[in-house]
Amino acid sequence: MVKQAWWQRGVIYQIYPRSFNDTSGNGIGDLQGIIAKLDYLNDGTPDSLGIDAIWISPFYPSSMADFGYDVSDYCDVDPLFGDLAAFDRLVAEAHRRGIKVIIDYVPNHSSDRHPWFVESRSSRANPKRDWYIWRDPRPDGGLPNNWGSAFGGPAWSWDEGSGQYYLHQFLKEQPELNWRNPQLRAAMMEVLRFWLERGVDGFRMDVVSMIVKDAELRDNPPDPQADPALPPNEIYRRQLHLYNEDQNEVHGILRDFRRLLANYQDRCLIGEVLDYGLSRWVRYYGPDGSELHLPFNFRLMKQPWRAQVIRSSVDELEVILLPFAWPNYVLGSHDVPRLASRLAPAQARVAAMLLLTLRGTPTLYYGDELGLENGLIPSDKLQDPQGLRLGAQRSRDPARTPMQWDGGPQAGFSVAQPWLPVSADYRVRNVAAQSADPSSLLNLYRRLLWYRRARPCLQGGSYRALDAGSNDCFLYLREHPSQRCLVALNFSGRVRHLTIPRETGGVVVISTYLDREETVSLASLALRPHEGVIVKLD
Ligand code: GLC
Repeated sequence: MVKQAWWQRGVIYQIYPRSFNDTSGNGIGDLQGIIAKLDYLNDGTPDSLGIDAIWISPFYPSSMADFGYDVSDYCDVDPLFGDLAAFDRLVAEAHRRGIKVIIDYVPNHSSDRHPWFVESRSSRANPKRDWYIWRDPRPDGGLPNNWGSAFGGPAWSWDEGSGQYYLHQFLKEQPELNWRNPQLRAAMMEVLRFWLERGVDGFRMDVVSMIVKDAELRDNPPDPQADPALPPNEIYRRQLHLYNEDQNEVHGILRDFRRLLANYQDRCLIGEVLDYGLSRWVRYYGPDGSELHLPFNFRLMKQPWRAQVIRSSVDELEVILLPFAWPNYVLGSHDVPRLASRLAPAQARVAAMLLLTLRGTPTLYYGDELGLENGLIPSDKLQDPQGLRLGAQRSRDPARTPMQWDGGPQAGFSVAQPWLPVSADYRVRNVAAQSADPSSLLNLYRRLLWYRRARPCLQGGSYRALDAGSNDCFLYLREHPSQRCLVALNFSGRVRHLTIPRETGGVVVISTYLDREETVSLASLALRPHEGVIVKLD
């Protein structure tokens, strides 16, 4: 069997730095705060979580209109989070523990405060004018085309000074970079080189599928499936994204990124690819594996949480992937409601076992290991620009509340008032309390992570789903030349009896309840409500 790369074997943990751990006392998490918690993430013993890599959402200088996804300097650290020296310490300390460091790269847009944009907007003749996407009004004085911003309203804003519109598919403070311009492309390549030289192990590329737009900026057609109840400012969600994203030219740029990474050892390229259906998504690996190592797979977050739906989603993926394309699964992020709130709370344990036992790289969102639920954010505390513009129900704040470390003031996150309120359940739901409770969700995550780490069949073995006589359960075999195991997950609140074809017996090594390790007959395997088990075979 071919030796696997770290990003195939390992588990990625996403840190939203504002919300992880504040050491400077300003209510906002920082890089030093991450360093201070590296032992929690992996100190080499099963008392730590046991992840392999961290992906840190943006920490670059930013006006924070979109909390860091509006970058005003790609090669520095915002003073809120620390400085480059703190970043270097973070990389060194992470590497000392065998933890890889993946950083966010935001290629689609910069901040309107970025010196490039300041120059670009200064005059039509400025050499950086073409680094962004500027257009005259239509002859009738209208907007250059009909595109909308994902955060509501049109995708064009008027610049009084230079008398043209510029494109932004997010906030007007996030003007879109023009990847058709060779100088801009070279400058953005330099950014990657800067961080590679500093020792980062990989990049998560923000909305990378959007970076190239149609050369003629043609109007998008309406989406016939769009919800008719969408408010008028939701232009983006009423259109098919034929011309504003997922353009063929993006693939050449991804291959350029990979060529650059090939000059360094063992680096990894992950990308946020929006939802264009499986057959378009799979193209982001490249026809021969020369593009993204991992185009993030968000499909499990978007489908109803039912055993057969989830099984079909996994099976479809397994069928479409060519041998060089490594699968991956994401169940939570800073952009969607909390995992434990999307599912029945009892299913959070089944979700943990699923994520950590499927074939492919799991990405785990900070706090999901505690079962953090959506925070309740009073309307006067709303921060997320999406929520402020599209209504509180669209706010992403609830998934970004501070990490809950202990039962002390501010859950041990900060000595100051945090930028978003700590969730009310912090006294019972926190790292310290769950560490002391042998059957907690946190201890289940630890068990699963450390078990997975020692099992080639879970890290690299094949996947095959099984029928076992219950539609409420999802079962699969993970097989490796030297070992095999069966994963059986009960998505329902009822006891289920399963008959596993062609298998006689095995040993339950982990139950999601963390209360049984026993030899079982596979002619009649009973799963309790919301129970998942890993059964070691042979
Ligand atoms: C991505 C990020 C999201 C951000 C948007 C604009 O989707 O994950 O948080 O708001 O891009 O940068």
